[in-house]
Amino acid sequence: MSQNTPGEWVNPDLKKVKPYQPGRPIEEVAREIGLSPAEICKLASNENALGVSPKALEAMRRSAAEMHRYPDGSAYYLRLKAADKFQVNPENLIFGAGSNELLEFIAHAWMGPERSIIVSQYAFVIYKLLAVMFGSEIIEVEAQQFGHDLEAMAAAVRPDTRVVFVCNPNNPTGTAIGEEEIAEFVEKIPPEVLIVFDEAYAEISLKPMPKTLERVLQRSNCMMLRTFSKAYGLAGLRIGFGIGPEPLIAAMEKPRQPFNTNRMAQEAATAALDDDKFLADTRSLNEEASSYFAEECRNMGLPFTPTATNFILVETGNGGEISQELSKQGIIVRPLAPYGLPEHLRITFGTMKENRRCIQALRQVLRR
Ligand SMILES: Cc1ncc(COP(=O)(O)O)c(C=O)c1O
Repeated sequence: MSQNTPGEWVNPDLKKVKPYQPGRPIEEVAREIGLSPAEICKLASNENALGVSPKALEAMRRSAAEMHRYPDGSAYYLRLKAADKFQVNPENLIFGAGSNELLEFIAHAWMGPERSIIVSQYAFVIYKLLAVMFGSEIIEVEAQQFGHDLEAMAAAVRPDTRVVFVCNPNNPTGTAIGEEEIAEFVEKIPPEVLIVFDEAYAEISLKPMPKTLERVLQRSNCMMLRTFSKAYGLAGLRIGFGIGPEPLIAAMEKPRQPFNTNRMAQEAATAALDDDKFLADTRSLNEEASSYFAEECRNMGLPFTPTATNFILVETGNGGEISQELSKQGIIVRPLAPYGLPEHLRITFGTMKENRRCIQALRQVLRR
């Protein structure tokens, strides 16, 4: 007999949510195979192989002694710094505990029952997860060569559509969309539909980015999301930002809790925005790593998707089993069955030493 407990009364939409599966933690794999964490090579979460931006690290050290104080809820100094860097008004900016939290604010503001959202097949899975949570219908548009089919996405807009997500470059496929295609696309989207440009990898993109900032400032229905997790190496600190028209930012501010971004993260992010050298180093590692992986995949006869980011989608066949075999050798990559790609792996670029170790292990596993 079912008991009448709060468990019975969990929101029905929440019951449908399948929790997000992040990359396996280094410590967990180390424990499992009896290696030290230092011997594990984590290539599973699109983190920065070069570590933390040195300027951010210095700021974190400086701020550590102030951690008994709450952060500035408005992120005043970070806001001024970012406003200056992007040449926008401070009111065009919002900060979140990672861009993930900003996606959640978007859901609070625009998702709900009797509202649909549009996503591309194989796009970042959090959009769909939020839609389920908020009771919105998901219109998933078939991908074209693993990338967004923008024409089909525009054609899929319905009167109840509230948000269209454009993940560019796209996680987990690494595909990128250029200026011309985006310019055509935005003209086709009705003004009452929000277009979210999720640009988590923009600063390290290997292909030229579209003019999203201009678009966001000129139009009333575009929002750009960025993060410090990737290019600046601050994934563990949880900080990201959105730039958009003031009324949209004001709507997203409503569900934001007062101290959502922590003091250390604000100070580190402010310093990171000046770390041009770290960005340049990250970009050049990405270029080298992407050529290396492309060449090695060709040598092994493995189909891959040309990438604009710091990871690559490789068709190894049986992604689940191969990733398990790799983890026995201390290499953590991401199997993509949850994305509907059971034959693929997503491999994040590490240092070149890590990349060579990964390829060597992959060769061994495939040979068996
Ligand atoms: C496309 C995309 N958007 C958003 C995020 C969220 O990043 P964060 O919350 O660390 O800023 C990620 C992280 O992997 C991502 O790949």
